[in-house]
Amino acid sequence: MSKPSILIVDDSAVIRKALSKTLDTLGAKVTQAVDGADGLAKARAGRYDLVISDVDMPNMTGFELCEQIKQGQATRSTPVLILSSRDKDEDIERGFRVGADGYLTKSGGQDEFLASVREFLDRQDIIRNRKVLVVDDSTYIRTTVGEALEKSGFHVIRAENGRQALDRLLGGEVPDLVASDLDMPVMDGVQLCKALRADDRFKNIPLLIMSSTDDRAVIRRMFQLGAAAFLIKPFNMEQLVHTAEKLLSDHFRNLLLEKERLRQEHTLMLGSITSLIQALEARDVYTRGHSEAVAEIAARLHDLGKIGIPDAILLKPGKLTVKEYEIIKTHPTIGAEILRPIPSMAPLIPAVLSHHERIDGTGYPHGLKGKKIPLWARIIAVGDIYHALTSNRPYRDPMPEERVLEIIHDATVGHLCSDCVAAFLAFLES
Ligand SMILES: [Fe+2]
Repeated sequence: MSKPSILIVDDSAVIRKALSKTLDTLGAKVTQAVDGADGLAKARAGRYDLVISDVDMPNMTGFELCEQIKQGQATRSTPVLILSSRDKDEDIERGFRVGADGYLTKSGGQDEFLASVREFLDRQDIIRNRKVLVVDDSTYIRTTVGEALEKSGFHVIRAENGRQALDRLLGGEVPDLVASDLDMPVMDGVQLCKALRADDRFKNIPLLIMSSTDDRAVIRRMFQLGAAAFLIKPFNMEQLVHTAEKLLSDHFRNLLLEKERLRQEHTLMLGSITSLIQALEARDVYTRGHSEAVAEIAARLHDLGKIGIPDAILLKPGKLTVKEYEIIKTHPTIGAEILRPIPSMAPLIPAVLSHHERIDGTGYPHGLKGKKIPLWARIIAVGDIYHALTSNRPYRDPMPEERVLEIIHDATVGHLCSDCVAAFLAFLES
């Protein structure tokens, strides 16, 4: 979340000051109100990620303030946390009855308070502007479910059946969560679920099933098809909202974890490459071993940039479109960019960047000609084509070696460096 904005409502200046100071540690922008009436005016005038209110105040109590906030069209999705010295069960219950999202007693201490505020802000961050697609043939369900979600801060779009839902997705309106009925005309929930799971663009969207069936076989089948949750009608809206929030927070937490994992992997990989190179540089620059090692590393790394190419393109079994091929062609540049921040990788960059250049200047990314192409890059180009032709590909069997050598030999016209090819063929013969 950027900078969360929090409204503190308390008639005690000392408490307002103490809370502000505590919230500073979260980097929050804090506004203060001196009583319930002031709090309501400020809540209506601004946009807050959280309102923290005392109960016993002049002009308007915290309970009344909370009730008003929850009834106002513009303010009802703002979470309210009541912080009171009243700690009787009946007071706490009353707080939740007027719509409070949380109730803390002032005796709870700073850690509990901060943990609770942090939880509210995280939750706000997760659901703010998240789009939920509600799919149900019943107007009543679309309305009540939609309104309950909107009231909690979700953005809601609606569809009357699976077909309409899919059309919305294909039309570019991709939700963060789909809440769908099972039994619908035209296309039912099972078909919708299958269609979503079969499409790479939509298969990770969490699917919440809402159905009046309590048949365990049906429920099990939906989970097996990839549904993330199943609510049996009639359910209360509280249950629905909580389930939606839970699914989204799990989903986004997983995405964050995955991103972090990739980042760590990347750092780790760069770390090991760096130490490899350092070990290399510790040797005499002019030894044969050095050259071989540089060649080996450059050859291993030449396609490093492919980690930046989307899987859907890189692993596509069929023919690539012109646009997809253009994307594939960025891999030498991406690879060079990955290595650039590491000073010790500098000697490898030309080889990585230029391994798809061609002698006649028709290669990429820079269209370099002849000896302008770095030697390592020209050497790798030969090895690359040999390896590509002799290994198995999804679309063809490996070629016989004789035919491969013929192709490589012919490629010295235009494509490959003739000196490198000669050296390569001599090496194979020996
Ligand atoms: Fe490549």
